[in-house]
Amino acid sequence: MIVTTNELFRHAYGKYAVGAYNINNLEQTVGLFRGNLGKSKSNDDPTDPAKSAPFILQISRGARGYTDKRFLEALIRAADQIFPEVIFAVHLDHGTEEACYDCIDSGFYSSVMIDASHEELPKNIEITKRVVERAHAKGIVVEAELGQLGGVEEDIVGSVCLTEPDQAVEFVEKSGCDSLAVAIGTSHGAYKFAGSQGLHFDVLEKIQNVLPEAFPLVMHGSSSVPKEWVDRINAAGGQMKSTSGVNEDQYLPAAKLGVCKVNIDTDGRLVWCAIHRESFRDDPENFDLRPPGKLFMPAYADYIVHKNGKLGSAGQLEGVRRMLAEGK
Ligand code: G3H
Ligand code: 13P
Ligand code: ZN
Repeated sequence: MIVTTNELFRHAYGKYAVGAYNINNLEQTVGLFRGNLGKSKSNDDPTDPAKSAPFILQISRGARGYTDKRFLEALIRAADQIFPEVIFAVHLDHGTEEACYDCIDSGFYSSVMIDASHEELPKNIEITKRVVERAHAKGIVVEAELGQLGGVEEDIVGSVCLTEPDQAVEFVEKSGCDSLAVAIGTSHGAYKFAGSQGLHFDVLEKIQNVLPEAFPLVMHGSSSVPKEWVDRINAAGGQMKSTSGVNEDQYLPAAKLGVCKVNIDTDGRLVWCAIHRESFRDDPENFDLRPPGKLFMPAYADYIVHKNGKLGSAGQLEGVRRMLAEGK
């Protein structure tokens, strides 16, 4: 069942964070749906309520343009039928104004992100407000961004600029956005921290305190870049540099301070890369695409289960279903 991100946030706020996972192809989609139901090896595995989680499936502009956006939409519709127990939101990640309108008009997305964070405050507000008006008219919710993460966001190369709490109040009030992505020290991609830096909890706490009660916050660039997966990639011929990501034990403290959505893309790519490299290394005569795919889907499902455990969303699916049934 497809719901809006804000319906999921109502259940999660202050308790846990919902995983927002980027999707590009069939194998990721299957692994994602299975993982969020606690199924690992096959679609026929029993659903595990203790591991079942609500989730956000997010699609970047790059993913929409990889082949044809209609392929991805068809995959997701099929997954929704094959796994009828799931509750998830379909979200546009880092949208331009044009991409947002395309998704709003498509009738398929329940949530869009307008990312005008590279603009000055008044322009960011102006653009976001336009998108909010058009989205709300169709019952779609809007995530916006204030402040800039380090690293690369789609085609925008950002330098770190933490979100200013006072600006956040003005931004939310004037733009009418439904959730806000804040810059609190993370960055996109595999190379986040050179040393032992972490999240700026002081800034996050200030933002939570000045915004309206229970206003949902979003954390981009939240992959943990596990050493285990980087080592596996390098042991199978990869050449990744030594790196570190967000400490997974910081997800729940961030959730307690209002972070309801945690964006994960890079970690999924690492799992994909390690599994495929190992598969070709261990079976050099193979030229069939399905053997690595068959290894990747359960590995990705297991990784989603692990991540949801760290986010606190594992075991929350039935609670969300009850909340929705009660019309809250
Ligand atoms: O924030 C960016 C996401 O990781 C999406 O990456 O544009 O390469 O699909 P992508
Ligand atoms: P990572 O690169 O840390 O996975 O962040 C993904 C993201 O923020 C997508 O919007
Ligand atoms: Zn992002």
